[in-house]
Amino acid sequence: MTVIAIDGTFASGKGTLARRLSEQYNLPHLDTGKLYRAVAKIVLDAKDDPDDAKSCTQAAQKINSEMLADPALKSGPIGAAASKVAVHPPVRAALLRYQRDFAAKGGVLDGRDIGTVIYPNADVKLYIDAAPQERAQRRHAELIGYGEDISFETVLTQLKERDFRDANRAIAPLKPAKDAHLIDTTNLSIERAFVASVKVIDAVLAAKATKK
Ligand code: C5P
Repeated sequence: MTVIAIDGTFASGKGTLARRLSEQYNLPHLDTGKLYRAVAKIVLDAKDDPDDAKSCTQAAQKINSEMLADPALKSGPIGAAASKVAVHPPVRAALLRYQRDFAAKGGVLDGRDIGTVIYPNADVKLYIDAAPQERAQRRHAELIGYGEDISFETVLTQLKERDFRDANRAIAPLKPAKDAHLIDTTNLSIERAFVASVKVIDAVLAAKATKK
């Protein structure tokens, strides 16, 4: 049973990487951002406030697997609200079991706190980052692709706000685990980032196997 934890900043490429790695190692994949996005969607649909811990916690208790397949979760406004619902400790507590149960069967999980909080015993931990300008360009192109009408400057400003909120919240802030392997994708294509990640993972798994 192998667990690969992939944490990192918004639009760093960690989601695409996690999907490719789950195929490479034949492991199920959980994009944990979708849990927070699904909570945000319930809250926004009910016209509740993402800053209100009580309505967010009630929403978090309703989350199930089917909700994670909703394509509407990808939108910019839901992502921004997700980083607000994610600061409430009871919301994180309500989503913890789902993530740990998933990891306990082996898998690739990507998010912000997988290697630090959700599964500190993961076999391999990667931390993916890239320069803000580069991440904003990627995200801008993606949102335009979804038909959203938004400027690059707005995407960059929102991305910096999101980074700040994720890195400075009191509970489970975004940071690399001490034993995480850092991969900077600023100048890497998806393919090169994938190759670099496989190299790290294979080396860590091989070293573990010889220790057994
Ligand atoms: O990765 P994604 O953009 O889908 O995540 C949306 C938001 O959910 C993040 O900005 C972050 O605040 C929150 N999140 C989190 N912990 C995770 C995954 C996502 O706090 N493991």
